[in-house]
Amino acid sequence: PRSIFFSRHGESQFNVEGKIGGDSPLSERGMQYANALPALITDNIGDAPLTVRVPLLSSPLHRNSEMIVLYLFTRKVWTSTLQRTIQTAHYLPYPKLTWKSLDELDAGVCDGMTYDEIEEKYPEDFEARDDDKFNYRYRGGESYRDVVVRLEPVIMELERQENILIVGHQAILRCLYAYFHDLPPADLPYIKIPLHTVIKLTPKAYGCDEERYTLPI
Ligand code: G3H
Repeated sequence: PRSIFFSRHGESQFNVEGKIGGDSPLSERGMQYANALPALITDNIGDAPLTVRVPLLSSPLHRNSEMIVLYLFTRKVWTSTLQRTIQTAHYLPYPKLTWKSLDELDAGVCDGMTYDEIEEKYPEDFEARDDDKFNYRYRGGESYRDVVVRLEPVIMELERQENILIVGHQAILRCLYAYFHDLPPADLPYIKIPLHTVIKLTPKAYGCDEERYTLPI
């Protein structure tokens, strides 16, 4: 059966500082996750690339001839264009595709701020977001509703593909997770997508089976 795999990027420098948005690199812990991710996947999910070694010259005189190594990939990785997802996927031995549509929810004027700073500088916005987190649109940025709309082409492609691993962002993965589990919009912005965890979803006729693999990093 077809499965879809989600992981957030490893812990970023902004995660450590409690800042939202931005395009910061991975922290030390985040790099550890990136290093450990290939084994987490092959150990739990299997399906490593199949390797075929073909002699460059197939004559008995060339028994030690160089080999061509063909990798037959059965999985693809999609990331956003932001470096924390690209760095997290770096060691995965699968073909990679970057999608602008997978970039994190745009926090507009609040990009790069901590929640405390937002509450202090934009108290009404902070409250409005708390009242209706799904529909609240950051000044100069996006709402969760906006993100759901921009993810439509990604979801359409995801429905046509097999064995995709998305290395993404919290708000983005909340939207994709809610789509596959058919969760209501009001709950969507509160779904917990932990760091350093691979979520495997297997769509069924009704609903989705789910497994999680976590690295204690
Ligand atoms: O930086 C954005 C976060 O991943 C989303 O968190 O929508 O709960 O503020 P939030």
